[in-house]
Amino acid sequence: MQNTTGQPTTAEAPLRLAQSFSARFASAPRIFRAPGRVNLIGEHTDYNDGFVFPAAIDLYTWAAVSPRNDSKLRVYSENLDESSEIDLSEAAPRPRDHWSDYVHGVAVMLQKAGVTVRGVDMALYSDVPSGAGLSSSAALEVSVASALLGASARTLPLAEVAKLCQRAENEFVGARVGIMDQFASCFGSGHHAILLDCRSLEYKLRRLPDSISMVICNTMVKHGHSGGEYNDRREQCEEGVRLLKQYFPSIRALRDVTPAQLESHRGNLPELIYRRCRHVVTENGRVLRTAEALGKGDLESVGASMAESHSSMKNDYEISCRELDIMVDLANGRDGLIGSRMTGGGFGGCTINLVRTASVGQFKVEMHSAYQQATGILPEVYVSNAGAGVTEVSANG
Ligand code: GLA
Repeated sequence: MQNTTGQPTTAEAPLRLAQSFSARFASAPRIFRAPGRVNLIGEHTDYNDGFVFPAAIDLYTWAAVSPRNDSKLRVYSENLDESSEIDLSEAAPRPRDHWSDYVHGVAVMLQKAGVTVRGVDMALYSDVPSGAGLSSSAALEVSVASALLGASARTLPLAEVAKLCQRAENEFVGARVGIMDQFASCFGSGHHAILLDCRSLEYKLRRLPDSISMVICNTMVKHGHSGGEYNDRREQCEEGVRLLKQYFPSIRALRDVTPAQLESHRGNLPELIYRRCRHVVTENGRVLRTAEALGKGDLESVGASMAESHSSMKNDYEISCRELDIMVDLANGRDGLIGSRMTGGGFGGCTINLVRTASVGQFKVEMHSAYQQATGILPEVYVSNAGAGVTEVSANG
């Protein structure tokens, strides 16, 4: 990962974390690393049982861990320079509206899955920017789940790890997110994007050619997900399913609705609900078309689907914002650009730009200054490879 910030690089991070862990807790830790993700296309389709096309990126959260002899989970965040203590034997564990809720929620869900979670000392460091739509939450959850499993001498199938991390966020933290982020953080694979069916959890890896780079442009406008807008969108989709079920009793989710079916009952839906449904129903088609076009090297179609996706998120789903629209507008038409759209939950965060590798240097520099000029905000621009999912690492990497 090349970035424009002066933070420790991926290579230095685990060693620094191990050293500070040993100084704080007086033992040598095991270290687990889980990546953030970027979504190429397929936004807000996951909780509608639809399709998504994310890739793990080379920004990570590292969890250093060593077992204790009691039921305490003592966790320290390097990024925040803050500690928190959780008692794993509590009968009625509750969230405290604190970053440690993600850690606590994962421990609780592991326990619910039948794992006897040992007390641990844990230290966390992340270079996934938070609130940027790159899944800092999933990277945290998945790294913590792996660290707790490792320290408790247990393993679980990766798909179970992804699902229980999602449950931690849904049931403990209170954000009704889908499965995409946790799945990508678990199943990421070098040089590949993941075409995931969020109903069956079947997935196919699609190779990203070396001639195409993923350039992530951060508007620096932060979003938060545990709050209202995200959960509202989810409820509006559920309302759409409830209304459409009167005409198509076999549908279980918007995944089951075709564009023609939706159009035929446009007049029976409140306008807002219709537009929300139209985003999801058309976005599912775009995901499948994009994955196919990428496989055939039809980059024009990839770019067209990304552009349609952005305008659908802006106009129908209403999850973009001024800065995201500016970032996309500034990318369009630039040398080497294949396609550009906002990525992640929305209301701020990043755009994903597929750019011909030969033009990346120039693209980065130009986007940086054009966005600053247009908004007065200094953006961050990351060029990421599609990377591997969660893994244990040594302090040296
Ligand atoms: C967030 C959620 C995901 C997904 C995206 C939007 O990242 O965590 O489950 O819904 O938003 O596609």
